[in-house]
Amino acid sequence: MYQIIHERPEDAAKIEPLLELCFGSARFEKTTYKIREKLTPISQLSLVAIEGDILHGTIRYWPLVIDQAFSALLLGPIAVSPDKQGEGIGIALIEESLKLAKEMGHKTVILVGDPDYYKRFGFTSAFDKGLDLPGPVDAHRFLVHELIEKSLSGVSGMVSGGELSLTQPGEYASAGETAALVGSLSSLFPPSETEKTQ
Ligand SMILES: CC(C)(COP(=O)(O)OP(=O)(O)OC[C@H]1O[C@@H](n2cnc3c(N)ncnc32)[C@H](O)[C@@H]1OP(=O)(O)O)[C@@H](O)C(=O)NCCC(=O)NCCS
Repeated sequence: MYQIIHERPEDAAKIEPLLELCFGSARFEKTTYKIREKLTPISQLSLVAIEGDILHGTIRYWPLVIDQAFSALLLGPIAVSPDKQGEGIGIALIEESLKLAKEMGHKTVILVGDPDYYKRFGFTSAFDKGLDLPGPVDAHRFLVHELIEKSLSGVSGMVSGGELSLTQPGEYASAGETAALVGSLSSLFPPSETEKTQ
C-alpha cells in the first residue's frame, strides 16, 4: 500500500523521469512550465506517493499572483506512474494537498488540465471568472478552484508567477515584515571564509 508524504530531497531524482514518462519533453514548451521556470515549488504542498523505495506519484504547487494584487496557487505537475494509474493515487494526492493548502490559508488554486478529471475537486473554467494566462492555453483546460467560497469576488486579470510583495508602493513595512525580510537576506550572501573551511 502506498503512503502520501511530503516530497524529500532524494525524491527529485525519481520525479523527473516520471514527468518525462508521463508528459515527454514537450512539457517544457507549455505555458505553465514557462510560468514556473524561475519559481521554487512550495515545499509544504509538494507531496509524493511512495511504496517503500518506489515513487508512484508526485504533485507540486507554485506561487502565483493575479493582477499583481492577489495571491493564488498553481497546481502541477501531477503525475502517477502508468502502472499505478486508476488506483486512486491522483485523487489522494490532490485531496490531501488541497486540504493542506486550505489549512495554510490559501484561497485560490489555478491549473491547466483536463476539466473532466478536475471538476470532482471543484475546478471550473478560469476564463469564465475573468482570469487570463501569459501564453497559449486550451481555453477549456484553464481551470480555477476557490478554496474559500467567493475568494475571487472582485478578482480578475492576468496570472503571473511569483509571490505578492509584502508592501505596496508608498506603504511602509511593519516591524515584523522588516525582520522577516532582513532574516531572509543572509541566505543570499556567500558563506564566509571560516564557514567554507569547516
Ligand atoms: C491524470 C492522473 C494524474 C490521474 O491519476 P490517477 O491516479 O490515474 O487517477 P485516480 O485513480 O486517482 O482517479 C481515477 C479516476 O479519474 C479518472 N481519470 C483519470 N484521468 C482522467 C482524465 N485525463 N480525464 C478524465 N478523467 C480521468 C478515471 O476515469 C477515474 O474515474 P472514476 O473514479 O470515475 O472511475 C494520472 O492518470 C496521470 O499521471 N496521467 C498522466 C499525466 C497527466 O495527464 N497528468 C495530469 C496533467 S493535468
